[in-house]
Amino acid sequence: MSKQLETMTPELRAFIEEWKAKPGNLIMVLHRVQQTYGYIPREIAIETSQILDVPLAKIYGVITFYNFFRLQKAGKYNIQVCLGTACYLRGGDDIIKEFERQLGVGLNATSADGMFSVEAVRCLGCCGLAPVAVVNGEVHGKLSSKDVDSIIKQYRERG
Ligand code: FES
Repeated sequence: MSKQLETMTPELRAFIEEWKAKPGNLIMVLHRVQQTYGYIPREIAIETSQILDVPLAKIYGVITFYNFFRLQKAGKYNIQVCLGTACYLRGGDDIIKEFERQLGVGLNATSADGMFSVEAVRCLGCCGLAPVAVVNGEVHGKLSSKDVDSIIKQYRERG
């Protein structure tokens, strides 16, 4: 997949400058970076480290510690698997593992063809359907690992 380099938007730069001197700024700034690009592009992480005067390794330490930060752009189809209590107790974790296995990706990563990404999320508000996965806003409920294959196929066929 060819990758286009992102450039820092003036709004983002202004936000980082504004937060520069405030304690606990790194998480806020990284949230804003992800809001802007949908993930944390490496070139933006480098620029952020220069503006904030924080080592790049520290930035990556934070990004990898919290699993809501992603290092790659989401796939065309973003699969959000619920790990809220009800879903977790009914095997949400197994559903995630099966998606990861079949797509050959880790959590918060995107398949090599750019089609799918897998994400773990908190309660999606439809616990009666646990375990639940949402793909681009479409809810798939009462899942078992056996359903994963047909869900992937369904979206692959849409192209
Ligand atoms: S816990 Fe999964 S939808 Fe509520």
